[in-house]
Amino acid sequence: MAVEHSFTNFRKQLLSFPELGFALDVSRAPAPAGFSEKMAPAIAKAFAEMSALEKGAIANPDEKRMVGHYWLRTPELAPQASITQEIKGAIADIHSFVKKIHDGSIKGSSGKFTDLLCIGIGGSALGPQFVADALGTAKDRLKIHFIDNTDPDGMDRVFAHLANRIGSTLVVVTSKSGSTPEPRNALIETQLFWKKAGASFAAHAVAVTGKDSELDKVAVKEKWLARFPMWDWVGGRTSELGPVGLLPAALQGLDIDALLAGARAMDECTRVADASRNPAAQLALAWYHLTEGHGKKAMVVLPYKDRLLLFSRYLQQLVMESIGKEKDLAGKSVHQGLTVYGNKGSTDQHAYVQQLRDGLNNFFAVFVEVLKDRDGPSPEIDPLTSSGDYLQAFLLGTRDALSESNRASITLTLDQVDARSVGLLIALFERAVGLYAGLLGINAYHQPGVEAGKKAAAKTLDVRNRAILALKKHSGRWMSSVQICEEIALVGSEEVVFKVLLHASSNPGLVLRQAHMDPGSTLFKHS
Ligand code: PA5
Repeated sequence: MAVEHSFTNFRKQLLSFPELGFALDVSRAPAPAGFSEKMAPAIAKAFAEMSALEKGAIANPDEKRMVGHYWLRTPELAPQASITQEIKGAIADIHSFVKKIHDGSIKGSSGKFTDLLCIGIGGSALGPQFVADALGTAKDRLKIHFIDNTDPDGMDRVFAHLANRIGSTLVVVTSKSGSTPEPRNALIETQLFWKKAGASFAAHAVAVTGKDSELDKVAVKEKWLARFPMWDWVGGRTSELGPVGLLPAALQGLDIDALLAGARAMDECTRVADASRNPAAQLALAWYHLTEGHGKKAMVVLPYKDRLLLFSRYLQQLVMESIGKEKDLAGKSVHQGLTVYGNKGSTDQHAYVQQLRDGLNNFFAVFVEVLKDRDGPSPEIDPLTSSGDYLQAFLLGTRDALSESNRASITLTLDQVDARSVGLLIALFERAVGLYAGLLGINAYHQPGVEAGKKAAAKTLDVRNRAILALKKHSGRWMSSVQICEEIALVGSEEVVFKVLLHASSNPGLVLRQAHMDPGSTLFKHS
């Protein structure tokens, strides 16, 4: 069976916004008969909730917070004049700070800044990374680098790139809570790296964080170069168009006003309370019928453009951290989700597209087509044919192949990749996620699972420290993980103790190991 498609249907279903350089085609993801009528009350409710959210309702009930990312690009929408002023003030501060960095009125210890190191994780990294990669060029004002983990070797790789340019590297540390372990660790290691080089870190450092957070306090105490706000009414994964994303993008030399303008323009289209004309509602409704309102199929995001490679990674967090919830708003266990993966075409045609075409039918594809190939003309590769023509042919061909084997797909078309179109893509999916959460009756704006992961890691570190202290206490004695657990009264934690000591003894410092194939017979000693 094939997904039925025809030019007539394409014309009927295409939502085209020529003034935005954007179109959405859901014609190859046909809804079952009567679906629009059936969903009319649910989507009307989702529109009403979205409108209340934009007016300042407590749309994140668990955290008792307003959800204000739409105000970031239209500050006048904010429910209080003070918020409008804060947003405008932050944007003005970003422009003025960035100007001083670019014109050299603020310099690093060895002169004008050349590089930018961004430290952050999750919502404090994925948006900035996506935008930096989508819009960066060889002419960037500052060369941008990221540390988004607590992987020592990952940090060393970045430090090796910066080794000769520490004196001209600006460091932006981003964390809304200001206490997330990964950026905290990366900050401490970066400070040590600066210290070893004999450079003042504070004179190179900027914080983007919540007021009075741990990070904020450090930045104040150490007199960092500047601080920019993260407000409690903006969630991490929807903060890209606030200081989190705007500051690094502006430092890189990207047009942040165009990013904001793109998002604002998309917000206008997606605020329309008529699902048939609203591209975000069309997406949310398509997700609903394609996955039976329960994530039964994954969304494979396939932009045929190298610059959009990180889009799927960015969307993975935006969608999965927002939609992947155990409970609905009424407290009922629903275990919701929408799996997102993807990279880019046509590259992925030589990887997993084989399975998409012929294997499990457990997904739908979202193709992103970009009409402009490059600045200027392209050479002929074959008569009348450029590399870009090949790229489009691969997209259209794969889409047809999927339709033929009954695989649904949605196609987004952009005139080009620029700051404006990236802004509108971000705004489109932010709104689609919000409306979809409305259809499902879940809170899209909290992340209890992330907190659970942080707590579990803290518990593991506690077990590790107790195990090492036990070895220290019995210095000189070889002990098994079973003996250590008895010693620290943590019977039942043998596997964790074995794992953390295996790791500790694989690195210079605290612990030695007598290896054995059986973890129970492996012995450890304080070094
Ligand atoms: O979307 C979110 O809220 C999370 O992914 C956070 O961005 C992430 O956990 C990092 O948190 P923070 O910015 O507080 O360091």
